[in-house]
Amino acid sequence: MSIQKVMVIGAGQMGSGIAQVCAMAGFDVILQDLKQEFLDRGMGIIDKNLQRQVDKDRMTSDEKAAIIARLQPSTDIQSASEVDIIIEAAVENMEIKSNIFKQLDEIAPAHTILATNTSSLPITEIAAVTKRPEKVIGMHFMNPVPVMKLVEIIRGLATADEVYQAIEDMTKKLNKVPVEVNDFPGFVSNRVLMPMINEAIYTVYEGVATPEAVDEVMKLGMNHPMGPLTLADFIGLDTCLYIMEVLHTGFGDDKYRPCPLLRKYVKAGWLGKKSGRGFYKYE
Ligand code: CAA
Repeated sequence: MSIQKVMVIGAGQMGSGIAQVCAMAGFDVILQDLKQEFLDRGMGIIDKNLQRQVDKDRMTSDEKAAIIARLQPSTDIQSASEVDIIIEAAVENMEIKSNIFKQLDEIAPAHTILATNTSSLPITEIAAVTKRPEKVIGMHFMNPVPVMKLVEIIRGLATADEVYQAIEDMTKKLNKVPVEVNDFPGFVSNRVLMPMINEAIYTVYEGVATPEAVDEVMKLGMNHPMGPLTLADFIGLDTCLYIMEVLHTGFGDDKYRPCPLLRKYVKAGWLGKKSGRGFYKYE
């Protein structure tokens, strides 16, 4: 299975990061989204990231231009007919992802691998809406994609070994480290991370400590680069709540119940950095 041409669906924070690292690794990339303004914003993020590398003398202007030239923004999902792999990074909503995968299955050539960057939705269920479940796989990048080394590769129930191998090889070409996991709620990353964040929120809810104190304990005591509440704001509190719900429903175990304070913040529209307020305030 030779992968030359990549399509990334969704030009948000994750999609643009994935497109950037693919283009940096020498792949031709189509970056697809519904509206030109989303593509412009995504390409703007990529340009800024690459310019920072040029400014720090880690990349020449010519190298930057060559990377940008490998990226082709498109609003047309029919571009899926030209590629060897599609990495979907649209919003975390099963109905939307199912619709995208149904369309991609119709348009993409038979050999094309359909990967999803979902952080918590079941790969097996997404695969089941296609006629090629053996070619559907999870490729979970971490935010910020250009910096974080991990790609959690999730095998759906029907994922073929050769598809897993092709994705592992591609991940290494992206200068990232693949880790293989099976398809259960939250995979490994969010099954371990989100209960920690949820518990940190409980300590604030119960008045054990302030958000600043909780974060300080975890940063200075456990060597985490960000405290769990800063990280929750960075990920988005709506996303954190959504993933806790996936764990709670998926396992039916009360140890995954979302903290009422998390629900309250999300209801108030305090979604973290992106909305200007979460556990902290942002400019
Ligand atoms: N895009 C690209 N590069 C970025 C960036 C971004 N959004 N943010 C920071 N960087 C780069 C900086 O340019 C800098 O690069 P150099 O060292 O090459 O100069 C480097 O990262 C360090 O940045 P800073 O010095 O500004 O800040 P920092 O040392 O605090 O690092 C951080 C920032 C990398 C985000 C760090 O705080 C960190 O590792 N945080 C934890 C991140 C994490 O846990 N991510 C996983 C989230 S969970 C997830 O994604 C999955 C899910 O399903 C929810």
